[in-house]
Amino acid sequence: MTSPRTSSAAKAVSPASAGPDNSNGAMQSIMHELRQFAPPVDFAVRAHVKSFKEYERLYHQSIDNPEKFWGEQADRLHWFKKWDRVLEWNLPDAKWFVGGKTNLCYNCVDRQVADGLGDKLAIVWEGEPMREGQPPEVRRLTYRDLQRETAKFANVLKSKGVKKGDRVTLYMPMVPELAIAVLACARIGAPHSVIFGGFSANAIKDRVEDAQSTILITADGGFRRGKPVPLKDTVDEALSMTNLVKTVIVYQRTENPVKMTPAPGRDHWWHDLMRDASDQCPCEPMDSEDLLFILYTSGTTGKPKGIMHTTGGYMVHTYLTSRYVFDLHEEDPSELYWCTADVGWITGHSYIIYGVLPNRVPTFMYEGAPNSPGPDRFWDIIERHKITKFYTAPTAIRAFMKWGDEHPGKHDLSSLKVLGTVGEPINPEAWMWYQKHIGGDRCPIVDTWWQTETGGHMITPIPGATTTTPGSCTRPFFGIDAAIVSKDGQEMPPNAGGFLVIRKPWPSMLRGIWGDRERFVKTYWAEIPGFYFAGDGARRDPEGNFWVMGRVDDVINVSGHRLGTAEVESALVSHPAVAESAVVGMPHEIKGTGIAAFVTLKAGQKPSEALKEELIQHVGKEIGAIAKPDQIRFTDALPKTRSGKIMRRLLRELAHGGEVQGDTTTLEDLSVLANLRQSEEA
Ligand code: PRX
Repeated sequence: MTSPRTSSAAKAVSPASAGPDNSNGAMQSIMHELRQFAPPVDFAVRAHVKSFKEYERLYHQSIDNPEKFWGEQADRLHWFKKWDRVLEWNLPDAKWFVGGKTNLCYNCVDRQVADGLGDKLAIVWEGEPMREGQPPEVRRLTYRDLQRETAKFANVLKSKGVKKGDRVTLYMPMVPELAIAVLACARIGAPHSVIFGGFSANAIKDRVEDAQSTILITADGGFRRGKPVPLKDTVDEALSMTNLVKTVIVYQRTENPVKMTPAPGRDHWWHDLMRDASDQCPCEPMDSEDLLFILYTSGTTGKPKGIMHTTGGYMVHTYLTSRYVFDLHEEDPSELYWCTADVGWITGHSYIIYGVLPNRVPTFMYEGAPNSPGPDRFWDIIERHKITKFYTAPTAIRAFMKWGDEHPGKHDLSSLKVLGTVGEPINPEAWMWYQKHIGGDRCPIVDTWWQTETGGHMITPIPGATTTTPGSCTRPFFGIDAAIVSKDGQEMPPNAGGFLVIRKPWPSMLRGIWGDRERFVKTYWAEIPGFYFAGDGARRDPEGNFWVMGRVDDVINVSGHRLGTAEVESALVSHPAVAESAVVGMPHEIKGTGIAAFVTLKAGQKPSEALKEELIQHVGKEIGAIAKPDQIRFTDALPKTRSGKIMRRLLRELAHGGEVQGDTTTLEDLSVLANLRQSEEA
């Protein structure tokens, strides 16, 4: 049993001491009494890391001699040619497993077949029913199936002229073919750029152009809440704005009619091309530092940036973190791991596909929504499939809490062994609920802090070894030298808030921003010279546990998804009625952080409820539904300093003040507030 005990150290601290701005309302509840949970004894007995002492021993080894540590880990995987050197570090450029040749698809798939595990399950997928009243569709793919399908699709890509180094864009629903397409790209060394299926036509166009990608893989649509969601139509709209893409391959998932081939010879059905493709396609030996993928994520300014990850280091880091953080056991036939993220985000890349498959544990993929057909959908899935490891986001947990305890209560969740969370700070109430109602007070919780840029877990408990406290992501993973520092790089004393940095290179670190060296250096390496600057504010308690408070830049974390306030602002000003806008985060019960947009209108435009709704829809169309503001506030003028800078802190305070009272369509005169503030501060 998990044993609670009260931590005086944890109780003594308040988040107010964290320093950097914390726009995540959920974190405010950290003031509650915090308890510590030691790893359950019966769990620890079977875990890869059985005690905190063992964690500390391995951690010190990994920090004192990273090359030995990581070299030994990399040896567990397959290399066509062994590396000459484990690490070459010229800040900010790291090269890992220098001179080594490997292939990530080989390690995810072929290595298992070669070792006689071809019939073992690799992917279990459940989709929504094709028609109402039908049971959900389930597909099971073995490593041999995956080898055949990835080889065939790799040959399809080759037949369309894709060569090593060519960028392939993917815009797909959560079907096994998404994993197959991703792995097929890795098989032939064509870096992929996966775009989350919720993004808009504009977002696709921007990403295709930035990556200079001439081939796009999509589907007619996917299912969500019993309805087909079109994807091909959005692709057509995107491609009407650029003529870069010469080939579109369309997987047929729904029965919705789609238009094929608006441009002659451009569009092809997946099943037509696969029919005659050969199932023989050897994996391309890739240099350890060859590009594996680009994944776009939001930053403080400008358009989303293409984060670059390379092959060898990313493979070893995601493999090892999957193994230890989820305590994956290939020898346990009951093991079935489920991460609820979409493959369109880094969590899906690293912890649905790349880190899990080399561990020889089946990965579960789910297509639909968590509350369709009912709010117990996830618990029903866990019961039916006997999921052992479950990884989701705090925003989902908060929604489950709201839907009611009775939904998980109806299901047998006793197969679960480890629960994970990722994407945003988790409020202690959500943590405690997760532990009790999903984990049956039995399962260790791993609150994993990491980022698109870090590629894999950075600060996280190791179940079986780490004592956890709700709200803390606890300790750095092996090899990760994390610290809290001041602006000038000095380490902060315990409990003092500061900036979260990583002081040494790690294998899955980003290798750059696609096409923008300057932005890479400026964003991550110039803020606090010598260290990787994560963009988060955090503190470390006297016991050494990390507490991440949230972003300190103009990035907001909405339902665990990252958005730049500048992106939302430029979407708003692209509407003909809008003169200027300023976007800030605001506390949100479910999303953690919601979006508040302050908007000034052009002369002659009148504020109204209808215009508000129009602006919200407009942002959805420009970026995607996740970016839709929760609150639009019309104002006469934005509060600015005398030098003309928008006073964001003031706007954040206003947005944190809760709902606007009274008539919400009247103009707020924020310039008055700005003047007041300036005279107060003068
Ligand atoms: O602010 C941190 C938050 O999410 C940011 C990274 O977002 P993204 O690149 O989209 O990756 C999300 C999935 C890895 C971080 O800068 N974040 C992520 N995990 C946590 C977190 N904040 C607190 N606790 C976490 N466990």
